[in-house]
Amino acid sequence: MTASRRLFFALALPESICHQVVDWRAGHFPIETGRPVAAGNLHLTLAFLGDVSADKERALRAAAIRLQQKSFTFTLDDCGHWPGSGVVWLGMRRAPRGLLQLAQWLRSRAARSGCYQHPLPFHPHITLFRQATHAVALPPAAPGWHIEADSFGLYASSDEHGRRTYKLLQNWPLAPQEGFAPGPL
Ligand code: 2AM
Repeated sequence: MTASRRLFFALALPESICHQVVDWRAGHFPIETGRPVAAGNLHLTLAFLGDVSADKERALRAAAIRLQQKSFTFTLDDCGHWPGSGVVWLGMRRAPRGLLQLAQWLRSRAARSGCYQHPLPFHPHITLFRQATHAVALPPAAPGWHIEADSFGLYASSDEHGRRTYKLLQNWPLAPQEGFAPGPL
């Protein structure tokens, strides 16, 4: 029997933005909002894969190498609360096409590999709090951090001593934008 692990494709946030988000969160949400996600765990899930066997993981990694997608930028200018799942999130008023295409490609590839994909439309978000099941007074907007996504990664999620940890397994670059001028050779 091959070991399986809980995997997902995601975009990481630059470390400096993670710290700014955590500072902003501390200033705008009371401590009783829910369980805050640690700065190092903040990420934007593109496709959740669930428990995946080693063989399936290999096939998904091989597919990710073949993906041709340009880098894109997005702006974190929105936040919200899903009381049903107890999630307070940071997101964007308008998701760029590149982000939606990347997620769509990964989700349909995952579905073809037999990884269940939720039928609800993809709503790109970064979870700020979990277990937020009571009413939350949301700030009117988020500061609008601009982020350039130039790669995406495959992560494994595990619970160690009651703490959730996400481990980056592999990262794939996105192609530079047209008109992007690399530095001198
Ligand atoms: P969440 O932050 O909205 O809970 C790792 O667990 C990542 O995968 C998290 O970002 C989580 O999204 C997402 N995730 C976990 N279980 C999921 C599921 N059943 N369907 C979709 N996404 C899921």
